[in-house]
Parts: sequence; C-alpha cells; structure tokens
Amino acid sequence: MDKVYLNGEYISADQAKVSVFDRGFLFADSVYEVIPYYHGKSFQMDLHLQRLQQSLSALNIIAEHDWEQVTDQLVALNGAGNLSVYLQVTRGAGDKRTHSIDTDMRPTVFACTNPIENSYSASVDSVAGIKVIVCEDLRWHRCDIKSNSLLPNILVMEQARLQGAQEALLQRNDTLLEGASSNLLIVEGATLIAPISEHAILAGTTSNLVRQLAVENGIQYLQQSISYRRLLAADEVWISSSTRGLLPVLKIDQHVLGSGAKGVMWRRMYQLLAAQQRMLFES
Ligand code: PDD
Repeated sequence: MDKVYLNGEYISADQAKVSVFDRGFLFADSVYEVIPYYHGKSFQMDLHLQRLQQSLSALNIIAEHDWEQVTDQLVALNGAGNLSVYLQVTRGAGDKRTHSIDTDMRPTVFACTNPIENSYSASVDSVAGIKVIVCEDLRWHRCDIKSNSLLPNILVMEQARLQGAQEALLQRNDTLLEGASSNLLIVEGATLIAPISEHAILAGTTSNLVRQLAVENGIQYLQQSISYRRLLAADEVWISSSTRGLLPVLKIDQHVLGSGAKGVMWRRMYQLLAAQQRMLFES
C-alpha cells in the first residue's frame, strides 16, 4: 500500500488517523495544493508553494514545514513515477466543535499521492479533445484561495459526468471564470485570452506557464471578460491544470466549437509546454 504523510510521519493510509474534531473535517477550515511529479521530479514546485503560502496566510493559518522535503520524500517512497501530490493543511483539531478559532491549534498536515498521466508526453495528435458544460458558479467570493470547501465544484462535476462531459465551466453574471478544477483560456485569431482574475479565479500554475510561454513566443496575451456568446464564438477554447495539462475543448453544452477539431494555436502551445517539461528531465 502507498505511504501517506501525516504530521511528521510516513505511514500506510490505513494507519493514518485524524481527530473527528479536526476543523478540516468539520468546517473545511483548510487549504490544499496538487503538485505534479514526472519521473519523480516536481514540476513548477515554487509556484505551488507560493500559492500554498498565500492560501495559508489568507486564512491566518501558521504552519512551518519544509514542504518540498515532505513531498519529495513521499514521492520517492511511492516509487518516484508520474504522481500528483495532494497536500492538505487544516487549522487543526480542538476538543469540541465550535465555530470560534482557537489560535493555539497545531495545524494538521496530510499528503498522499495519486498516479497521473504524463500530460505532455503524448503526441499532439493523440491528445483527445474534451466536452464541457457551462454552469452557474455557486462558489464563494475568494476563489483565489485553494480552499477545501469544494461542494459547488463537486456538484457541477457530477452534472458534467451525467452529461458525458469532462469539465464544467463556471459563470457568474454571464462572465465565464474557470473550470471546476481547471483554468479557462480562449483563442481569437492569433490572440490568447484569459478571464480577468482578481478574487474569482484560482491563479493556476499551468495557465501561468501558458501566459509566460505566450509572451516569450510573441503570442498576444490579454485578460478580458468572456461572456457565453464570446466563448461559443471563440476559435479555440482550452482548459489547463497540473493534473490534466492543457486540453482542447471541442464541444460546449450542445454546441460544437468551430470545425470540431483541435486548433493550431493549441498544437503550438502544447508543443511549447512539452518542450518546457522536457527541460526538467535534462536539468
Ligand atoms: N485543481 N482552478 C481551479 C478551481 C482548480 O481547482 C485548479 C487545479 C486550477 C488549475 O490550477 P493549476 O494549474 O495550478 O493546477 C484552476 C487541482 C488540480 C485539483 O483541485 O485537483
């Protein structure tokens, strides 16, 4: 059985126990990260740790840990392959259920691994495009915090599954924001457009790399408001995440996007991302 990490120990999952008064369990008073490892090497670790720190600070959870050492060691113990590390930090456990926060609590730190596909090792032609549905965004107003309060995300993902789709895009006031567990990007002509972020969107590490590669390669990149009509009229629509990489969207609700085939801009960006990832193994 794979090892998990819990509060300083690397143990089997069946030995890992958390208090019923843990605030992560009772209130989703906790934050998390999902960090991809390919062939045992982390990808974009700095950005994940920076975002973890921002999430912790936003909730005023003080947790001192050598995060990288913990996740590296866990990945090594679990075979050093293509794995994502799920890392969760809760505010900790008290001795009763109460809304008020006891500032002396010791955070609970948990990590486990899951096998992932090496998103960028497939040839461009073999990557399958996906279908998405568009749903009303029922989440709170601080989606920049990677909080474990994921009920709205889970409910729309279930709707997507029932409709044969692989992701649900979330919209508020006719403005598309992101996917239930991914960021959204659209292409108009030769321009790449991402939704305006502020607090309504998670600052994705993958979409950040896409932005960086666009700028470095002379592709115009803008942040603008995206309405449903604009989404359907886009030349290309993509989603991005650490576990799924960059995927082309070919169908939105009942509408086939453009010609229904993967776009040229997606092919180019996918290859740029794959080259970036190859550099990881050569370093
Ligand atoms: N989700 N937006 C949301 C709401 C997400 O949950 C995620 C990632 C992203 C993409 O972020 P990144 O590129 O840093 O993975 C955007 C992870 C994979 C998850 O919840 O499992």
